[in-house]
Amino acid sequence: MKQLFGIIAFGFLLFIPLILVSCQSSTQYPVDYEQLSEDQRIVIRFSHVVGEDTPKGMAARKFAQLVKERSEGYIEVQVFSNGTLYKDGEEMNALQRGDIQLIAPATSKLTNLIPEFAIYDLPYAFRNYEEVHAYANGEVGLTLTEKLNEHNLISVGIWDSGFKQLSNSIRPISHYSDLRGLRMRIMPSDVIEQQFVTVGANPKRIDFNTVFNQLQEGNVDGQENTLSNITSKKLHSLQSYLTISNHGYLGYFLLFNLEFWNKLPKDVQTLLTDTLQDVQQWQWQFAEEMNEEKLQDIENCSCIDVNYLSEEDITEWEKAYIPVYDYYRKNYSDKYVNALPKFSN
Ligand code: SIN
Repeated sequence: MKQLFGIIAFGFLLFIPLILVSCQSSTQYPVDYEQLSEDQRIVIRFSHVVGEDTPKGMAARKFAQLVKERSEGYIEVQVFSNGTLYKDGEEMNALQRGDIQLIAPATSKLTNLIPEFAIYDLPYAFRNYEEVHAYANGEVGLTLTEKLNEHNLISVGIWDSGFKQLSNSIRPISHYSDLRGLRMRIMPSDVIEQQFVTVGANPKRIDFNTVFNQLQEGNVDGQENTLSNITSKKLHSLQSYLTISNHGYLGYFLLFNLEFWNKLPKDVQTLLTDTLQDVQQWQWQFAEEMNEEKLQDIENCSCIDVNYLSEEDITEWEKAYIPVYDYYRKNYSDKYVNALPKFSN
């Protein structure tokens, strides 16, 4: 009996190193996720329509880089900029179908799906970025983003492009009546259309990636956009007059395909939302600084006549745009307008 116990104890001692080795290999052996196929990793295709050198383009790259580092390559964000994968009118359908997983469309481009998003298009609705962010994350703003869920979309943040300015090749604009008769490129939004119609201009809906050509061919006289977008596409090189009007906000909701999002493991969702929080803070700061820098560059280049609206001018323009607010109230709802900082504070 003693002998049998001795054999068992000896055998057990022999196996201990083997057990240790096998435990070690299953818990500590490193994985090179980048060598795994796309089926074994999580791949997020992120399509957008602007250049790399813009607040959205830079933030998309930063997000991809941070996600790669923080997940050690297990989650890969593939960024397709400049509309190379899907263009303006295509990316939303591609996202809803699940062909891509993430987009960051301008709020105006959500108005086809949910017209109330045009609240962000109302001229002089917000005086600064803080007001926009507070509105989007406030009680009423959140009821709007929640509507996206009914369309298989989920919003995971808001990024800024900036405040819009006006450029054209016909005349300097300082009074809103100077816009009369001008053919102006706009994003697809009924409220932006009303903004131009109200002051006697002719708005034309044109995809972002073709604005340069349309200006060059003389199919439109001017356009409105943020300085980061204007300079990244060199639109100012085709125009003679720029008005710093800051008349409207241009920003983006970051949208995941909801079905894709819901299937992600909880720890992956947490990694993504934490990273998006960090990138958003960085992006807001970056967008503001970039637009200031671009204004400085334009001032220095003396390549376009720059006009600033005074506080008095802005008061006049705001009055002229009252019918656009009436249009929104009549066609969509009072609720979103009443919650704007200018009416609720
Ligand atoms: C964008 O910033 O995504 C494009 C905006 C535009 O269409 O003007």
